[in-house]
Amino acid sequence: MSERYDEVVNLEHDYFFPAVRRWPLALGRGEGSKVWDLDGKEYLDLTAGWGVTSIGHCHPRLASAISDQARTLIQTTNAIYSLPQLDLAQRLARITPDGFQRTFFVSSGAEANEGALKLAHAKTGRARFVATLNSFHGRTLGAMGCLGQEKYRARWEAILRPARFVPYGDLEAARAVLTDDVAAMIVEPIQGEGGVRVPPPDYLCGLAEACHAAGALLILDEIQTGIGRTGRWLAAEHSGVRPDIITLGKGLGGGVPIAAFTATEDVLQSVQPGDHGGTYAGNLLACRAADTVLEVIEEEKLVEHAAALGATAITRLQELARRAPDKVKEARGAGLLIGLELHEAERAARAHATLRERGVLVNLTAERVLRMFPPLNISPEEWDLGLSELESAVTE
Ligand SMILES: Cc1ncc(COP(=O)(O)O)c(C=O)c1O
Repeated sequence: MSERYDEVVNLEHDYFFPAVRRWPLALGRGEGSKVWDLDGKEYLDLTAGWGVTSIGHCHPRLASAISDQARTLIQTTNAIYSLPQLDLAQRLARITPDGFQRTFFVSSGAEANEGALKLAHAKTGRARFVATLNSFHGRTLGAMGCLGQEKYRARWEAILRPARFVPYGDLEAARAVLTDDVAAMIVEPIQGEGGVRVPPPDYLCGLAEACHAAGALLILDEIQTGIGRTGRWLAAEHSGVRPDIITLGKGLGGGVPIAAFTATEDVLQSVQPGDHGGTYAGNLLACRAADTVLEVIEEEKLVEHAAALGATAITRLQELARRAPDKVKEARGAGLLIGLELHEAERAARAHATLRERGVLVNLTAERVLRMFPPLNISPEEWDLGLSELESAVTE
């Protein structure tokens, strides 16, 4: 490690809370799907800031839009009408399912889920939630109450209001707990953090039906899967599920903190002025950035691009699983959200570190799953290189 890297580690030790685990890496800049560390070493970034930099690092159009908005108006208060907010909301209405027209903006995915839970309570008057084991919905208290992973909850259990948890993909288990006190069930169309788990094809539609039969709502957490990530604008399109509330985040701002929640008009009937807010809710700079991100995704046909690159990757990695069944358990995903599950956690950790040493950044989640969620505009050559490196790192 270099002197500059050591300096950063010391600064962090002296001035930053030790609340996060770091890789031995400090980045200086990025462009497209590439990033460079402080000593100029190049990396292919298949993590995209955890599936966030949807149009690549520092896209020139995003940089110009941010800089233009910064010279125009950055922030007002929620008490004042905001044009960038409305431009973005209009554009979003074109990509959300029919019947979802109005949106509210916040700054993080967890906050969007908090808003969704409140909305479900406002609509139904009920106070319980159902969520899935292995899920991830964010780290604020309401969202963590619905987060089905012991490792994130354990230290905070005493201050959480736990949801009823059921196994992901199990429709009967969900039906059994959807009693008449349940406001909503919250679910990811594909569990991301939980290891890129794809549910059975009829699961989400079945959940919607079961929720509605019980007088409850279905909240679809598309924070990781939305905005083109799975090769459709929203992952809901794969199954045609009709949720009541949808949450979005991550790729929406291309790296600028913004998230959103939207609902059917029927649900929005119960909203009253003052129900929700936040100093930065719908911040002008963030809305302008997100509007530009959506425009670029649309113009550069990145949803189609993600679908095409994802399809070849899944075929290729499933072939790898057949060639090396003792090492690779399964390849899963859709579009550019791909997980490769190995049999052993130790091999997965080694492959993760080896890839980084060789200049390829991937994420290791659920102990044994190497997750890739690169910029949607990664080139076929870069994607091919990343997959080749992955294949050799996991099999050697
Ligand atoms: C499905 C899902 N929901 C919610 C969140 C929380 O989003 P944020 O970290 O922006 O609060 C995440 C983040 O990884 C996520 O993957």
